[in-house]
Order: sequence, then C-alpha cells, then structure tokens
Amino acid sequence: MRWKKCAALLGAAVLLAVAAQTAAYAAPIRYEAENAPAQCDGTIDANHAGFSGTGFCNATNATGSFVQFTVDAASAGSATISIRYANGTTTNRPADISVNGSVAQAASAFNGTGAWTAWATKTLTANVDAGANTIRIAATTANGPANIDYVDVEVGGTTPPGGTTPVAINGQLHVCGVNLCNQYNRPIQLRGMSSHGLQWYYQCLNTASLDALANDWKADVLRISMYIQEDGYETNPRLFTDRVHNLIEMATARGMYAIVDWHMLDPGDPNFNLARAKTFFTEIASRHKNKTNIIYEVANEPSGVSWSTIRNYHHQIIPVIRAQDADAVILLGTRAWSSLGVSDGASETEVVNNPVNATNIMYTFHFYAASHGSGYLNTLSRAADRIPMFVTEFGTQTASGDGGNNFTRSQEYLDLMAQKKISWVNWNYSDDERSGAVFTEGTCPSGQFSGTSRLKPAGVWVRDRVRTPDNFPTS
Ligand code: GCU
Repeated sequence: MRWKKCAALLGAAVLLAVAAQTAAYAAPIRYEAENAPAQCDGTIDANHAGFSGTGFCNATNATGSFVQFTVDAASAGSATISIRYANGTTTNRPADISVNGSVAQAASAFNGTGAWTAWATKTLTANVDAGANTIRIAATTANGPANIDYVDVEVGGTTPPGGTTPVAINGQLHVCGVNLCNQYNRPIQLRGMSSHGLQWYYQCLNTASLDALANDWKADVLRISMYIQEDGYETNPRLFTDRVHNLIEMATARGMYAIVDWHMLDPGDPNFNLARAKTFFTEIASRHKNKTNIIYEVANEPSGVSWSTIRNYHHQIIPVIRAQDADAVILLGTRAWSSLGVSDGASETEVVNNPVNATNIMYTFHFYAASHGSGYLNTLSRAADRIPMFVTEFGTQTASGDGGNNFTRSQEYLDLMAQKKISWVNWNYSDDERSGAVFTEGTCPSGQFSGTSRLKPAGVWVRDRVRTPDNFPTS
C-alpha cells in the first residue's frame, strides 16, 4: 500500500495490539503402534523403512486382526485422527475403525501404497470422550490390516487442519511454468486477504477474526503485512518478528497459506533495508522451514529506482531465504509500486527481458481498480503469459486505498485472474476508516467478523469472491 498512515490516528490501536493471542487448537499427539499401551495383534516389525519411532505393527493376516491405540483427550469433542499405514500389495486392506467400541468408519479403505516402504496417511474425524479412549483398527478381510505406523490425534479447537483446508489439499507449492502449482503439480489459484500494517491493526488479527477468515470467508491465504518504516519493524525488530511468528502459527492452525510480506515502502529502494531483511528472513525461514504453507514476499512496493536496482536486491535476498528453506516460493516486487513499471511509464518487458536469475519465484503486481484501468489490466494479462505473476495486493477503490469503488473494473481483473489462474490477495482485513478496509470502524478487536453485518461495501463484494468454492485438483 502506497499511502502514508497518519501517526496521530494510531495511539489506541498500538496499545491494543500488544495483547497476547492464544493458539486456536491443540497440537496433534502421536501414538506409536510399538509403544504400550498400544496393542498389536501380530508383530512389531522394523524391516520396511520410513516408519516413525522404532517400528510398526504388522498384524496377522486374518479377519478381525487389529491394532488398538489408547489415546488421551483433554476434553470431549470432535477429534481428527490420522492413521499412518503402508500396504505393499495392490489389494485394499479394509478395516473397521472404532472409537470406544463404536464403529466410526466401517470397512475403511487402506488401498495399496505402492510398496511396504511407502507410507500414507488416512484422516477421519470422530467424537472422543474426555480422558482415555480406544481407537481400534480391525481388518474386515482375511488379508488382515495394512501395516500401521502410528495415529495422530488432535482434539478440540475450531478448525483443525484436516483433509479439506487449502494447505491440506495443496501441500507445498511450487512454480511450474508461469503458474503456481500444488503438490500434484497442477496449477492452482489462491484467493485471500492481506492484513493491514501490524504496527496499526494487529488487533484485527485474533482468534475470532482469523476463524472468520478461514471458515466464513473460506480464504486460502493470509498476507501478513509487516511494514519496515512508518513505526514498523525498524522500531522494534523483536516485537514485529514475534508478531509475524504468531500470525504464521495462526494461519497454519487454520490450514491457510501465509505470505510473509516485507512491507518496504518508503524509502522505495529495497536495498536500503537489505541488512534488516537478511536478519528478519533468516529467522523466519529457519523457524518455519518445515511448514508447507509459507510464501515469502521480499519487497512490497519498490519505487523511485530502476528494475536493475530492484533485481539486484532480489539476487541478494533470495539465497538468504533458500539457505534455510530450500523449496519455498518467493515473491518479488516490481518497479513503481509493484506495477511491473507501468506507473513509471515502463512495461512488463523490462522484467521479461531481464528476469531474476533464480527458480521457484514469482513477480508481484498490485492494482487499485478505480485508478488503474485497461493499460494495467492488459499489462498483467500479457505478463502472466510470459512470467509467473502473483497479485499480492489489490483494491476495488483508488490507489490510496480509499474513495469510491469500481466494481465493474475490479470484476474484469478477477475474471482475467481466474482465467489465467493468477493468485490474488485483497487489501485489507482491518477496520481502518478507508473504503478499502473491509470492516467498519470499531469492529476490531471484538467483531462481529463473520457474516456481513460489519462489512463496508468493498468488504461485502470481496468476501463473496473469496468465498467462491475452490476447485483445487487433487490428482
Ligand atoms: C509382507 C510384508 C509385511 C506385511 C505382510 C502382509 O510379509 O513384509 O510387512 O505385513 O506382507 O501381507 O501383511
């Protein structure tokens, strides 16, 4: 976002923003088949690599043969149960999965995994009691059950990441050709929301608001917008880095992708903040490298400098992230407030002809539909055929993030982005007074965040379009 925020408006917001936030759900607990009180109606073996712990249960090949786990739940409620197994045959090894004696899933399929060393995970939800529970996997055919490695059990919370969240479905993303691709190497489009600056609107990012973003808005992605100047990161690197850590965990708990946005803005030369960026991204990437949902955006909106200067910055920051997190997608800002140079009278050709020398990268494009007409739209369209593009910010109003909405033009952009599978993130998920902040003033921190009662017109419009069902390929 390119405008400057007036510090005088911010006092109360900053104070509220320090309030601690709690995790949304309990982390899963793992129960290994080889550890008592688990029971294995057969032998504990260790001859097929890839298992966790010290072995797995190879139950007898007979109908009724079983593996049984005793699991603890801190509270009664719905549990997500993930069963790790291998079946080196090509024949299904169906089993009844029971919780405390009642069948939760009858003759549940445990299909061939390709090899006894190829372990897969099957996930189901079932109700558990507070305290001890038994989970029993009992074969319904004479072949007995598949080999069983462990169960992960996760109880409580609002939206445990089961099999249906955007991250559960798509897994680690990568760039393929000009597209963003999922774990099945198929192009996908992510749609979601950007936060406002964490120095001003952290109080809009809490358990209830992020539950609403994940469950009511059905967003695929949260962009975590951390300004560097303008009372941001440079004033207290520890505080802001910890806020980003926290928001990454909250997005992860809800199965959303998290874009870590280094929101450099003024000065417009990203090299001004290079040393800070190296420190910040090294810590973020080393802490979260094992997650599959982190996307790095290394320069929000460069301005006043040439593409070659920006490109030089990218060449220096990319290896710093890759040293920690080798497989993450990295998003690269472009000239003139990430307009691919158009706002300086240039065009996408400067990037197309002189791309950044790295793989698994995408270029960012920002637009504000009431200011940026067909010249910008056509630039995005042409660019997306040549280089990987990601719209990490757009608004339905003017480039200030305020003023009247142009929904007709906005829809043209959205149609183009749907057609070309260009991922997009809308600015912004806060209750700032401007028309582009989706909530009416005073909504944060207590809501109401779900539904439309506290949404401005732009919020109603964009929620409808974030909510449209995803169509992620799963094979
Ligand atoms: C093989 C394999 C075992 C497996 C068994 C089975 O013997 O090595 O790990 O349990 O087949 O068919 O169940």
